[in-house]
Amino acid sequence: MKPKFKNPRANHDFQGRTCSITGVGSYVPEKILTNADLEKMVDTSDEWITSRTGIKERHIAARDEFTSDMAAKAAQRAMKMAGITAGQIDLIVVATITPDMPFPATACLVQQKIGAKRAAAFDLEAACSGFIYGIEIAQQFIMSRTYDTVLVVGAEKLSSITDWTDRNTCVLFGDGAGAAILQNRENSHGLLTAVMGADGAKAGLLSMPGGGSACPATADSVTAKLHFLRMDGKETFKNAVQAMQSAAQEVLKRCEIDISQIKCVIPHQANRRIIDVVGERLGATPEQLFVNLHKYGNTSAASVAIALDEAVAAKKIQRGDLVLLVVFGAGLTWGAAVIEW
Ligand SMILES: CC(C)(COP(=O)(O)OP(=O)(O)OC[C@H]1O[C@@H](n2cnc3c(N)ncnc32)[C@H](O)[C@@H]1OP(=O)(O)O)[C@@H](O)C(=O)NCCC(=O)NCCS
Repeated sequence: MKPKFKNPRANHDFQGRTCSITGVGSYVPEKILTNADLEKMVDTSDEWITSRTGIKERHIAARDEFTSDMAAKAAQRAMKMAGITAGQIDLIVVATITPDMPFPATACLVQQKIGAKRAAAFDLEAACSGFIYGIEIAQQFIMSRTYDTVLVVGAEKLSSITDWTDRNTCVLFGDGAGAAILQNRENSHGLLTAVMGADGAKAGLLSMPGGGSACPATADSVTAKLHFLRMDGKETFKNAVQAMQSAAQEVLKRCEIDISQIKCVIPHQANRRIIDVVGERLGATPEQLFVNLHKYGNTSAASVAIALDEAVAAKKIQRGDLVLLVVFGAGLTWGAAVIEW
């Protein structure tokens, strides 16, 4: 029977395409805040921060440098590596919990800043898990042949939601951005599989209570410091270890890949102790684990994207190698992905 309507999506010869990362890039602001600097701001010590977290310093954006500025710089570096122009980008996804403003989407501001006039643009909010959520979304569009070129950016100005008088949180976070261009690349498996998960029952463990529809900004909400992030560190730690371990094991199982076949494991860079326990439970060697949190702290959605870019630049990952990304964040959210680089 002749179809009643022409539906361009109903292609009965549909064959999925693979989706590869063809370019990566990152950017961190110039200003560095060291543990010694923090010793002058709150009751803490380099010894405490280093032994409990592994963090030595973090980068802090200038007052007039916004999430979209950092995202655009990282994006331009990823575009250069992929060898594409802004006009080729079909879709921009920006993962962030620190958008320039509640709306419009930071992705739209990035679209304007890089001149990607043809691109659709939206933000996604999955906290520190945002980059894996982003590349999994990108894959759906590439695989279905809806789009050819997708830009995914994880970018954060966490310094703007940090209570600089709270030693429990202010030593942990930093600013920065990491970006990836996703396209089909012939003869490459690219993103083999990804899992994403969430548990809203534990939303209270890590959140910023103020500024949304539940608690709009008022003089009282500012006085009560509701516009800063809050965290139950101990519970978050336990959940992070458990969720990252099971997400990573799930993707390895799905691909029938043993951890020894993975060239580089890139975990979310929140705490050195979390990374070490997860690595141990997965059976990864210290050489397999990529760690850069001593330089940046936890940059949330930017974290694994910056780490991936650095691992590639340091030639720890070569074309054809298998990479395991694993993340965890507020929501709660988590995810893991296996990529043939
Ligand atoms: C936050 C975190 C580093 C704290 O480490 P911890 O070993 O759990 O430390 P504790 O919570 O037991 O705190 C121990 C003591 O150090 C104190 N302390 C907290 N921050 C401190 C700081 N910056 N400097 C010095 N002392 C500090 C606490 O007040 C506490 O003191 P008390 O025992 O007198 O109450 C750790 O819980 C963590 O990394 N959690 C997960 C964070 C995370 O990954 N978040 C993002 C997920 S995406």
